[in-house]
Amino acid sequence: MDGEFQVRTARLADAESIYALIREHTTELVPRSLGNVVENIDRFLVAEGPDGVLAGCIAYQVWPEIGDPLKATVELQSVAVRAACRRRGIGSLLVKGALARVRALAPADVTVLTLTPEFFATLGFREIPKTRIMHKLYTGCINCTKHTDPFTCPEKAMALEI
Ligand SMILES: CC(C)(COP(=O)(O)OP(=O)(O)OC[C@H]1O[C@@H](n2cnc3c(N)ncnc32)[C@H](O)[C@@H]1OP(=O)(O)O)[C@@H](O)C(=O)NCCC(=O)NCCS
Repeated sequence: MDGEFQVRTARLADAESIYALIREHTTELVPRSLGNVVENIDRFLVAEGPDGVLAGCIAYQVWPEIGDPLKATVELQSVAVRAACRRRGIGSLLVKGALARVRALAPADVTVLTLTPEFFATLGFREIPKTRIMHKLYTGCINCTKHTDPFTCPEKAMALEI
């Protein structure tokens, strides 16, 4: 990782850049409206270059399990690095930054649904059966506009025990 990029908490002033970055990745990422980005801005981190330009973003969301707070899943979402800035460690830095934040909640694990499992594997994530995240499927995937069935969706479910 070249040290010119810093990961920091997102601010409202980042919302439009985050929205634009997510829109550049319609295949890999679940779309978000600008309003949704603003509403969830406190769960976003961004990577910023020396010129102040946003190089990447990440968010997380807590999915509750009925009746068992300790089985809530924390999911990493909207993980994106600007194409020109890839393979310089920025994605890894963003995931590590989000994990540091999420650790304070002390969840059993952190999950992700991804088309790039190789990237998350380098950070210790391992593939899990989607049946382990039924609460995510029923509350999140059920509203997916890209795939009608999470079990035929090409995204892999992965988890990191923390
Ligand atoms: C996936 C993504 C976030 C990775 O960001 P990045 O800054 O390039 O990642 P890093 O530089 O930290 O990569 C660390 C390691 O992960 C692996 N890796 C990264 N991107 C990879 C890819 N596309 N395919 C396979 N392995 C990959 C490599 O082993 C890499 O190490 P190396 O460069 O020394 O070989 C970025 O490619 C991206 O924004 N993709 C489009 C959106 C997306 O797919 N997001 C994930 C959806 S959950």
